[in-house]
Amino acid sequence: MRILIAFTSLSGNTRDVARMVRARCEALGHAVTWVETDIQTLADVTDRPQHDLYLLGSWTDNAGRTPAEMKRFIAELVDAVGKPQRLAVFGTGETQWGEEYYCGAVRRIATFFGTRYPRLEIEQMPHGERDARKIERWTDHVLTCTDHIDKNTPHADPARLDP
Ligand SMILES: Cc1cc2nc3c(=O)[nH]c(=O)nc-3n(C[C@H](O)[C@H](O)[C@H](O)COP(=O)(O)O)c2cc1C
Repeated sequence: MRILIAFTSLSGNTRDVARMVRARCEALGHAVTWVETDIQTLADVTDRPQHDLYLLGSWTDNAGRTPAEMKRFIAELVDAVGKPQRLAVFGTGETQWGEEYYCGAVRRIATFFGTRYPRLEIEQMPHGERDARKIERWTDHVLTCTDHIDKNTPHADPARLDP
């Protein structure tokens, strides 16, 4: 599959998670388009915005908010491809902000797109075998679900998919 991974990261935590997700996707033979939304737009990295799967990663800003860079990217993405069905969200946050706001951006983005994929939420930077396994399991699950959707849902626009 052609997979787009787009993320925002202020201090590197979400970038670390994104790198691990990317490594897993590539190890399984998928082609990844990589967007660092803090410094790149979608148009900067590809002239083929349609992908088979979109993975969006975000840290969470004040009181559960989505960072401005990710909001800007989402507006560009929706302009280019609409709200994709095959879209999953991951991110990092800190539980000290309280349950209501913990990883709030991940939840807001998932709600905005109405995604049915599970969310991946990591506390601060990913560390240890436990987080590594959690990230790998989530990535595998999202890929498997997408395969399942592909096999069971006729595409409105089959030409959209790469051969
Ligand atoms: C100004 C500011 C506000 C934050 N607000 C929240 C919040 O509401 N909820 C949360 O879970 N984390 C919050 N955080 C914590 C970050 O989301 C968390 O440290 C995250 O892992 C940073 O990711 P990054 O290293 O990719 O930038 C806040 C951090 C900063 C700097």
